[in-house]
Formats: sequence, structure tokens, C-alpha cells
Amino acid sequence: MSKIILTGDRPTGKLHLGHYVGSLKRRVELQNSGEYDKIFIMIADAQALTDNADNPDKIRDNIIEVALDWLSCGLDPAKSNLFIQSQVTELTELSFYYMNLVTVARLERNPTVKSEIQMRKFDKAIPVGFFTYPISQASDITAFKATTVPVGEDQLPMLEQAREIVRKFNSVYGETLVEPEALVPENSVCSRLPGTDGKAKMSKSLGNCIYLSDPEDVVQQKVFSMYTDPNHIKVTDPGTIEGNTVFTYLDAFATEDSFAEFLPDYKNLDELKEHYQRGGLGDMKVKRFLNSVLQKELAPIRARRKELEKDIPAVYEILHQGTIVAQKEAAQTLAEVKAAMRINYFDDEELIKAQQLKYNEQ
Ligand code: TRP
Repeated sequence: MSKIILTGDRPTGKLHLGHYVGSLKRRVELQNSGEYDKIFIMIADAQALTDNADNPDKIRDNIIEVALDWLSCGLDPAKSNLFIQSQVTELTELSFYYMNLVTVARLERNPTVKSEIQMRKFDKAIPVGFFTYPISQASDITAFKATTVPVGEDQLPMLEQAREIVRKFNSVYGETLVEPEALVPENSVCSRLPGTDGKAKMSKSLGNCIYLSDPEDVVQQKVFSMYTDPNHIKVTDPGTIEGNTVFTYLDAFATEDSFAEFLPDYKNLDELKEHYQRGGLGDMKVKRFLNSVLQKELAPIRARRKELEKDIPAVYEILHQGTIVAQKEAAQTLAEVKAAMRINYFDDEELIKAQQLKYNEQ
């Protein structure tokens, strides 16, 4: 069976370090591994509209931001199809049929939807489109017969929902769809990188993000004002690692090579943590180290972005070409789905003959 990747991002803002370690970095590695037959990476604008219906310009303006972030991180249109969800109308059609296979109770139980409803304070005024977006996400995945979906841990309930839809569809209409597997980061910190303020998640509305496109001085300033251990006042005080954002980021980004290059007094993160816990290691030294590590990772991304920004029409063209390929692929699956559901009337000569026979016999 061929190995196919599908994943995507909502275009609600520029991408940040949470996106990068949670999924984007991995995607680029998977793309370059050569192990996949097809790769589809989607800008989920239709999904973003499910909770931004009154603000379409926000979505429209952020499509290019997401595309620039992708390309500057190393997604390569020669290897990955980069496309825009809303322009592949087959995805919407698939969702309409999948809706018959999912109960309201099942959607209400989806933990991601539950917490998002709370976060958005929708309360009793939940848009139907938002409530059903897990179904639309199942369409995104199955339309490309994706076997592998690289995502952060928060998306696991979406994958479970998609797998259930596939099983239900195949059992009702016959083997048609492919059950996808999630691929979550091996390093669990990467699944939920906290904001610079130590709050649960990086989020634009909390203003606690480091963006991939932030200039060098902005990254430095954000790192230097990061949340650490509020009880670690004097350098000599013993410090706490748990919930200390600077260390959480080091967990996600620092390697032994980073120590060799920027902080050779320590061999690895365990040694650094040990010193901090014992006392005698100041926050500023750790922050300076983290800043060096992040700048090294972000500098080439920032430089590629500057180049890409010079030719914006070329970036839209990449999305356009990727969308044409994605549309063909989704149309093929939709045709198979409709045939399995027996709603392919005009393609089915047997049906028409049989209906005639029925009348001839009367
Ligand atoms: N829900 C994903 C997010 O918020 C975006 C997305 C839409 C997606 N469709 C998808 C991810 C299909 C993986 C597969 O980031």
C-alpha cells in the first residue's frame, strides 16, 4: 500500500514555535526522508472559517503568511503538494455524506471540540459548522487516502473520529476508505509547547508566542522576559525545573551539539538542570543559552522568508498548482465514495437496464 501524508494548518495567524516543534519540523523531515509516495499539506481555510465566519479577511490575509512560513521551513513544492482547502470543493461534498455516519452525542464527546467550545465561550451558541469540523477533518484526511497524519497531540481526538468514520463507512458501503494513523512528536514537550508566559499553550490571543518570522531582537527580548521559577531570586537559590518555561523550551530545542557550541561547561541538559536545581546558576545565563539555540534554528528560516517575500505571486502560484493536483486526487476518491454509496446513477448502466427490466416484466 502506498504511504501518503496529509496534514494542515489553520490560517489564523503567522506560525509560531509551537507549530514548528509540534508538526512543521517533522513534516519537513518526513518530506525529505523519501519514504512517502505522496504528501499533501493543506491550508485549512474552510476549517478556520468555522469559528471566524464574521472575519473572512483575517483568513484571506493569513493564507500567504502560512505559505511563507512553510516554504521558509523547508517544505518543497517539488516534493509536497501545498494546497488550499476551500478550493477543493470535493472535501465539502464528502463531509455531507460522512455526517450521516456520526451522531451528535459522539461529536459532543470529542475532547478537543469540548475544550475549544469553552475557550471560545460559545456556550449555547455553537455554530453548526464549528461543531461538525471533526467530520470535515475526516474528509480532508480520507480524500487523499492518507495513511499518515503528522500532528500535535491535541489533534488525536480528531484522528480517532476520522478512523471511526472510515470503519463505519467501510462496514456500511464496502471497503473504500483508508484508516489513517496519527504521527505525534516523539518528544512529548513538543506536542504542547507552552507560551513564553508559562501558560498552557502558545496562542495568538494570549500574546505569548515566538513567531517563526520574528526578527532576531524580538526573539531575544521574548526569551529574556520568559517565565521561569518565581522563587529563584538569588543566583545561589536552588531553582525548580518543572513548569520553568526556559527549561521546557530547552527540552524541545537543545541538543548535545548546542552545548558543545554555546555552553561547553556542560555536556548536556541534565547537567545544566542539575546545577540549576542545586543553586548557583542564574536565569540570565540559561536564557542567553536558549536565545543562542533558538537564533541558530530560526536564522536560516528567517533568511529564506526574506527571499520568498520578494516574489509573492510565485508563492500563490505554488498553492495554485498544488491545489490542482489535490483536487484531482480528491475527485477520484469522491467518485469511489459515490459509487460505493450507490449514488452514481448516470455512470451505472446496470441500474438503468434493471429499472427498464422491472417495467418490462409488469
Ligand atoms: N485542525 C488542524 C489544526 O487546527 C488543522 C487541520 C485541518 C488538519 N484539517 C486537517 C490537520 C487534517 C491534520 C489533518 O491545526
